[in-house]
Amino acid sequence: MSAYLERMKKKAAAFKDRGDLLVLGIESSCDETACAVLRGGSILSNKIASQIDIHKRFGGVVPEIASRNHVLAIDNLVGEALAEAGVKQEELDAIGVAYGAGLLGALLVGESYAKAFAYALDKPLYAVNHIRGHIAVNYIASPRLQPPFVCLIASGGHTAVALANGYDDIQLLGATQDDACGEAFDKVARVLGLPYPGGPQIQALAEQGKPVIPLPHPFKGTDTLDFSFSGIKTAVINYANTMKMSGKPLPAADLACSFQELVTDIMTDNLIRAARACKCDKVVIAGGVGANVRLREKVSVRAEREGIKAFYPPIRLCTDNGVMIAAQTMCMIKAGRQPSDFDLDADANLPVSRAGE
Ligand code: KG4
Ligand code: ZN
Repeated sequence: MSAYLERMKKKAAAFKDRGDLLVLGIESSCDETACAVLRGGSILSNKIASQIDIHKRFGGVVPEIASRNHVLAIDNLVGEALAEAGVKQEELDAIGVAYGAGLLGALLVGESYAKAFAYALDKPLYAVNHIRGHIAVNYIASPRLQPPFVCLIASGGHTAVALANGYDDIQLLGATQDDACGEAFDKVARVLGLPYPGGPQIQALAEQGKPVIPLPHPFKGTDTLDFSFSGIKTAVINYANTMKMSGKPLPAADLACSFQELVTDIMTDNLIRAARACKCDKVVIAGGVGANVRLREKVSVRAEREGIKAFYPPIRLCTDNGVMIAAQTMCMIKAGRQPSDFDLDADANLPVSRAGE
């Protein structure tokens, strides 16, 4: 253990129970460079440098280009987040950084920056599981929310239902066996000729359509809490190809609507069944696909019918951001987790079940 870590453990032990911690969260796992400053449960600043316009022309995120743009953006963005928060860097109590899951090169930029920043300021550094950050942002959005609850993790890289037993105690109940739901949204959007990222585009197009195109339900009739989206995605592609080969116009809005209805039905159903199985009266939505309005509507309706309270982050905190990383840093501190040393490495495939380094 380095002398730095020895010192940081002492600092962390001293501030563990404070409710007004000043935390900087840094996120660079995909195509958003993001950082935010929280004081306790209050968001003092939330800065995002989105690369969507850069990657749009390629139809998806190009990892090397993402890493290079993180390098260009990160230092200014941290400066802006601190300035907007009215906080001097020396005043920070802790720094949290996403170290997985995500694109390795992209994660390394945020992580290397955060290590240098923490060392220069002699502040504790926390290695945050970015997926757990998506869950933790709900504590900021809904201050009355407390574990236990069942959550749906729905992002570009993950789809799962999990039981949050504590602030940093997440137990996986079911997960996708193939594609993530966001990945399926993005792929289907591409087939329909819509730009990246596909989720909001499908949502907008679906409003003009009807769910009249039959698509296969992966686990119909079973009680599994797992997910599978690749069969649905392939069915959409096959349908589009068949229409093209027969020279018929593609009913894009109906296809978008049919896809969105089925995928949001499956996610809602798994979430509510998971809550019932755990005898839990709270459900939470986490991740970029959590911005989907149909998903939110369906979860609200089903939850209310079952006497379950549903929580969602505001739309702007569903997709990757720095608030969620700072929020999860606070959860880790509250749970008594230790800060990281400088041998911390990024982990592209970090599982949701892994709490942190
Ligand atoms: O959580 P996130 O920002 O990044 C990952 O951790 O993967 O999620 C990004 C995903 C993308 O696939 C994007 O298309 C999807 O979230 N998304 C949506 C919506 N807004 C973003 N999917 C469906 N409906 C939306 N409104
Ligand atoms: Zn994410």
